[in-house]
Amino acid sequence: MAFYFNEPSRTFSEYLLLPNLTRKECVPNKVTLKTPLVKFNRGEVPAIYLNLPFTSAIMQAVSDDKMAIALARCGGISFVYGSQFIEDQVEMVRKVKNHKAGFVLSDSNLKADQTLRDVVKLTKDTGHSTIPITENGYPTGKLMGIVTSRDYRVNKYSMDLKIEEFMTPFHSLIYGKEGISLSEANDMIWEHKLNCLPIIDDNQKLCYLVFRKDYTDHQENPLELLDVHKRLVTGAGINTRDYEERVPALVEAGADVLCIDSSDGFSEWQSETISYIKGKYGDSVKVGAGNVVDREGFHYLAEAGADFIKVGVGGGSICITREQKGIGRGQATAVIEVAKERNEYYEKTGIYIPLCSDGGIVHDYHMVLALAMGADFVMLGRYFARFDESPGRKIKSGGMNYVKEYWGEGSDRARNWQRYDMGGDDKLSFEEGVDSYVPYAGKLKDNVEITVSKIKSTMCNCGALSIQELQKTAKMTLVSATSIREGGAHDVILNKDNEYEK
Ligand code: IMP
Repeated sequence: MAFYFNEPSRTFSEYLLLPNLTRKECVPNKVTLKTPLVKFNRGEVPAIYLNLPFTSAIMQAVSDDKMAIALARCGGISFVYGSQFIEDQVEMVRKVKNHKAGFVLSDSNLKADQTLRDVVKLTKDTGHSTIPITENGYPTGKLMGIVTSRDYRVNKYSMDLKIEEFMTPFHSLIYGKEGISLSEANDMIWEHKLNCLPIIDDNQKLCYLVFRKDYTDHQENPLELLDVHKRLVTGAGINTRDYEERVPALVEAGADVLCIDSSDGFSEWQSETISYIKGKYGDSVKVGAGNVVDREGFHYLAEAGADFIKVGVGGGSICITREQKGIGRGQATAVIEVAKERNEYYEKTGIYIPLCSDGGIVHDYHMVLALAMGADFVMLGRYFARFDESPGRKIKSGGMNYVKEYWGEGSDRARNWQRYDMGGDDKLSFEEGVDSYVPYAGKLKDNVEITVSKIKSTMCNCGALSIQELQKTAKMTLVSATSIREGGAHDVILNKDNEYEK
């Protein structure tokens, strides 16, 4: 006979935290959100920590190199999506590892024989007004000159005017040579009153641009997640099919941690993939696995050697797995139960395996709930897809509103059949995800700062200065359907025009 759980499975919105005593030292700037990313033995420290408990989802619409750079600079980590050719994924990982804070690979380039029309179009498309002119139009071509908005007047010049007629030519440029430090580059920027300093190699080929504003940015990112060589830390997604080729290529490119991306991680394929990695690299290559939703799933992957375990089936915002296949579990219940098993496993073996709550986070407060329930970090798709740094296009949708594209890995658009592979054909037989839009929300850093301040504030209410303390001391209650209404503004007429400010 089938096994029945006594309780229904629940989502985050069905829970609330209760305040604990807020000691006087419980103020937001004393709260740390540092959290382990990979497993460690009792009394030891994990090989990789996150400074913020956020990871971006292993999805085409979320985690490319741009997202990975932006998130690592804030203290979290991206898992660059694996549903692409190995070489393309490797290239993205390389870009993150080669990213030097303050040294930017130019993404707006033209050739000298192109026209002012091309300049105006490119500026409009990218929003960038500094355009290096290279011999072949590539970001790392021989530098011939630079165009900025100070070099042309749109209303006075013909749109057909060739760039070579109005660019600042190479012989008039101030530039730095490859190998220059950020602080030396910054000194040159100040000395020559520049906004941007191109850095070239011995063959006059463009390597990077250093912008005046980036130097300050760098100083404003104290939580930046760096490896021992001071390079940004990045993860990469893998699957259970082509790991013998993909894993060595990603390791070679410098990926700091891998994660098997699958909608159902309680499988022998995952165990085989982990065995291959551990057999080849020992403990030097870290690999997360998942997703699971119960104790057995956790135990299986823990014994298989996973470095962290992801929890969640069917809760993602773009996910239709539950409707299509009738598989899944309310995300809160899944995290609570898997965390119980993880804690018991730790008691028995002395091995602490971090848990990631993946999918279904709708409000910022859901993140604190997930952490309080035992997750060490969360994985977010919809949240990050809304930002400038995500790969999806930004589109105007009626009125003044912008949206960004956000599509599931199980949608026909992504065609990530490996994620849903049940050992059959190499194709997606039916969709488990949708192609959608999410409201555009601006820069990652600005949004993450607000989210972090909410999380820290809640933790102060709960009297917890760290995630570990929160997990030990949190008190939670289920809410009734009627009391949920009480949680929002109610029984008042909202003043949408802020009349009193006029
Ligand atoms: P979100 O943060 O609620 O948008 O959920 C993101 C998570 O949904 C990802 O990390 C994946 O675990 C999961 N996911 C991604 N694509 C699909 C899909 O097409 N169907 C089902 N789940 C998906």
